[in-house]
Amino acid sequence: MIVIELFSVWKAYGETEVLKNLNLKVEEGDFVSIRGKSGAGKTTLLRIIGLLELPDKGEVRLFGRSIDGLKDGEKSDIRLHQIGFVFQFFNLIPSLTVLENVELPLALAGVKKQEGRRRALELLEYFGLKGLAERFPDSLSGGERQRIAIIRALANRPKIILADEPSSSLDDENSGLLMDLLARINREEKVAIVLTTTDLYEGLPTKRDYVLKEGLLTEI
Ligand SMILES: Nc1ncnc2c1ncn2[C@@H]1O[C@H](COP(=O)(O)OP(=O)(O)OP(=O)(O)O)[C@@H](O)[C@H]1O
Ligand SMILES: [Mg+2]
Repeated sequence: MIVIELFSVWKAYGETEVLKNLNLKVEEGDFVSIRGKSGAGKTTLLRIIGLLELPDKGEVRLFGRSIDGLKDGEKSDIRLHQIGFVFQFFNLIPSLTVLENVELPLALAGVKKQEGRRRALELLEYFGLKGLAERFPDSLSGGERQRIAIIRALANRPKIILADEPSSSLDDENSGLLMDLLARINREEKVAIVLTTTDLYEGLPTKRDYVLKEGLLTEI
């Protein structure tokens, strides 16, 4: 099944043309990286895929269905249940513990408190991070924070994970751990992952890599 399809997508902010005639196809269980310089349009592209932004022209299809004409409620439903976001900045809510952070998307999706807690603990345990459950984000290392953000993105068992430069603030060792985690999620949960990056990080566990330059994607 094709989970994401972009056809000839254009996006400009005023005079700044960010995406120009961009095409992309991502299948179930795919793992794709998009590399581009700062300002190349990586976040814009992920926001369009994640239904946080509309393109000016072109078509976006998720799970084989055009997003044209979807109501706001239908979009947030898709975002909540099918898509896990790992944002570039400010991933975790500082006033909530790690466990509460992982529970949050479950609560928003209407999962009962007890069931949400069970699932959140199960996820943390499965990925070896249960020891952090009662800690607050401020007390975690950057690498731990990003790994928790990824676990949280998984909470609602999404079909797609969009990870915007998840390793940008991490050293090589933590980037490696993060990529291992993403690779494991991709392999075991059959989640399609689209990850952006600025660096020439070697050894990405991806299936396909693209460069985003001058508004176009080129496979490398
Ligand atoms: N809401 C907005 N209003 C105006 N311009 C915007 C807006 N969002 C993005 N831009 C511009 O669009 C271009 C692409 O921005 P985007 O954030 O997608 O880049 P990026 O590849 O994610 O960069 P970085 O690696 O620094 O995060 C930039 O020139 C940016 O200034
Ligand atoms: Mg960005």
